[in-house]
Amino acid sequence: MTSALHAQRRARLAAQLGPDGIAIVPTAPEQPRNRDTDFLYRHDSYFYYLTGFTEPNAWLVLAGDGRATLFCAPKDLEREIWDGYRLGPEAAPGVLGVDEAFSVATLDSALPRLLENRGTVWYPFATHAGLETRVDGWLQKVRARVRFGALCPEQQRDLCGPLDEMRLVKDAHEQDVMRRAADISARAHVRAMKTSARMLRAGQEVREYHLDAELLHEFRLGGSQYPAYGSIVAAGANACVLHYRADAAPVRAGELVLIDAGCELDGYASDITRTFPADGRFTGPQRALYDLVLASQDAAVAATRAGQRFNDPHEATVKVLAQGLLDLGLLDANKVGSVQDVIDNRSYFQFYMHRTGHWLGMDVHDCGSYVEPTQVGEVSERKDPLSGELIKNRPSRILQPGMVLTIEPGLYVRPAEGVPEQFHHIGIRIEDDAIVTENGCELITRGVPVHADEIEALMRD
Ligand code: GLY
Ligand code: MN
Ligand code: MN
Repeated sequence: MTSALHAQRRARLAAQLGPDGIAIVPTAPEQPRNRDTDFLYRHDSYFYYLTGFTEPNAWLVLAGDGRATLFCAPKDLEREIWDGYRLGPEAAPGVLGVDEAFSVATLDSALPRLLENRGTVWYPFATHAGLETRVDGWLQKVRARVRFGALCPEQQRDLCGPLDEMRLVKDAHEQDVMRRAADISARAHVRAMKTSARMLRAGQEVREYHLDAELLHEFRLGGSQYPAYGSIVAAGANACVLHYRADAAPVRAGELVLIDAGCELDGYASDITRTFPADGRFTGPQRALYDLVLASQDAAVAATRAGQRFNDPHEATVKVLAQGLLDLGLLDANKVGSVQDVIDNRSYFQFYMHRTGHWLGMDVHDCGSYVEPTQVGEVSERKDPLSGELIKNRPSRILQPGMVLTIEPGLYVRPAEGVPEQFHHIGIRIEDDAIVTENGCELITRGVPVHADEIEALMRD
């Protein structure tokens, strides 16, 4: 990635800070796992967006005039022998394009000077434990100098606001990385499907972790650093547990497997779900539900284009699912009424209890407001039909080219009175990643088949 791209982003952000504004952006802390072992390090997404720098112990300070100062770990031969290479402040300006860089050890002494005579301090609110306290400490030191003529910033503002808006629309470079991440993840899903069928055909025992291993293999083979989130590999009834994780349950012929897994590549997430028959052949009831979920996804895809609202794909999905649940007898029209009643009363919620998508980017549930910023003042109230809670509604976000979201309808059938037994314990979700375009959307995850016939064909070969 070029430092010019990050310099452009910093310039765009700086222009929003005001001439007397200054922004402070820390990267993520290292997280201890146990004793002296840490979790695998993952940088902070805001920090990475503005610097492209992935080392821990680093801070960016960006002034309203665009001047960028980096604080990073100093060169230290002994630490580098143990922990690895450090860029160091001497090389940082040349490599990252920041104006100057200093050792992070000087942060506490340097920050009061940088904040002095500024009007507004910006930093991401409620994202880094203890950050507010550190800013307070620096401001106290500025205040101690007011009697010598220094001015102390009078305002603190949340940097997430402008940064979230910037991150919401992905530039060409980001879209390119996301397409590559999606390709790797699609290959991983194909590999898991094929492995499941091959092992079962060979009479081998298959467990969820075998398929998880296939995903990881393909992620790393493609150059991905790590999964973008904990992979869900759910065999049989486990698919009805929305946040299930790959575990040790047996994968049996005749049952479905739901895999929700995506790799992270160079800081960007992908997020794919496929549900397939463990041995490569759908049963009748499985196929009926699968085709319904797919039809609801098709409707959502058709509703995803610039000018539509974020909620439109969800509403399109719900319409198709509501009709299908009545047609298949999962909901009884004598009890729940018409399709419109099912929608209005949220009767479908018994089988479909999540939303149809979310923003996707550096974070799998990416930042960005779901409310249309030009209409935040247009508040309406409605009573939730299930909880009775009074909910404040604001108009949903209008989609723009370059926004990236997931489209992920599902159905999860737990045994209950009146629910036909043939559908019990079936859980299905189909999830693709879409880049919004002027006239529609680009599904970047279709390297893995989604039609039931195509899945069966893939698993036969
Ligand atoms: N894998 C997380 C999600 O689908 O939202
Ligand atoms: Mn998702
Ligand atoms: Mn997912």
